[in-house]
Amino acid sequence: MKKEQLYEGKAKKVYATEDPDLVIVSYKDDATALDGLKKGTIAGKGAINNRMSNFLMQLLEKEGVPTHFVKELNDRETVVKKVSIVPLEVIVRNVSAGHFAQRYGVEEGIVFDEPTFEFSYKNDDLHDPLLNDSHALALKLATKEEIDAIRAMALKVNEVLKAFFLSLNVRLIDFKLEFGRLSDGSLVLADEISPDTCRFWDATTGEKLDKDRFRRDLGGIEDAYNEMMRRVFGA
Ligand code: TMP
Ligand code: ASP
Repeated sequence: MKKEQLYEGKAKKVYATEDPDLVIVSYKDDATALDGLKKGTIAGKGAINNRMSNFLMQLLEKEGVPTHFVKELNDRETVVKKVSIVPLEVIVRNVSAGHFAQRYGVEEGIVFDEPTFEFSYKNDDLHDPLLNDSHALALKLATKEEIDAIRAMALKVNEVLKAFFLSLNVRLIDFKLEFGRLSDGSLVLADEISPDTCRFWDATTGEKLDKDRFRRDLGGIEDAYNEMMRRVFGA
């Protein structure tokens, strides 16, 4: 089933299959931050992100959001639809944190009346610069129709995931999504949804349960990932 490696990213590898419309993603324990400048490993992360992302993608499918998910093969590997990734990082925020707090000089933890929505250009060499719709159009990264569809899907994902995580006593602070085009041009949610790509704060204690523990050298990173796994799967 698994054929040649097509691509290796910072956290995943992608393999061809016999079916040209399907690929296998394999999640690694490698972690990077600061556009790959900071490198490390988080033991068990690959398996946690694989299982959590697959669970969340299936939850979103049920709520009407099309995703790349096809079938979980094992702890680390999943069959997904082959897409060409739209080179936009789609970020939704419910509470100020991270680059939002830095960029606008505000503290973390301000609850927004409405979620914010932003794009950055997925390009490590340029440090993923923030860009708006007109920039994305000018650079031909996506069409107007695609941008509208991406915004609607991302806000829907936020509604579904915010409610889901709150039921686990976790606040969904912000997250990053990526979308891909299938061979017929239709858009699906791709990449992953995991503690690598979301900020999760315990709703009672405020404890950080995501990759910020690695980015900021807070320690207890494996425990945080395991705790999120336990809450999602009750294991
Ligand atoms: P930011 O505050 O650093 O812009 O991050 C916003 C959200 O996006 C946060 O949940 C972490 C996630 N994220 C990624 O998944 N990949 C990245 O490269 C960056 C910078 C953030
Ligand atoms: N994906 C980013 C990088 O390696 C890290 C992050 O999530 O902050 O640079």
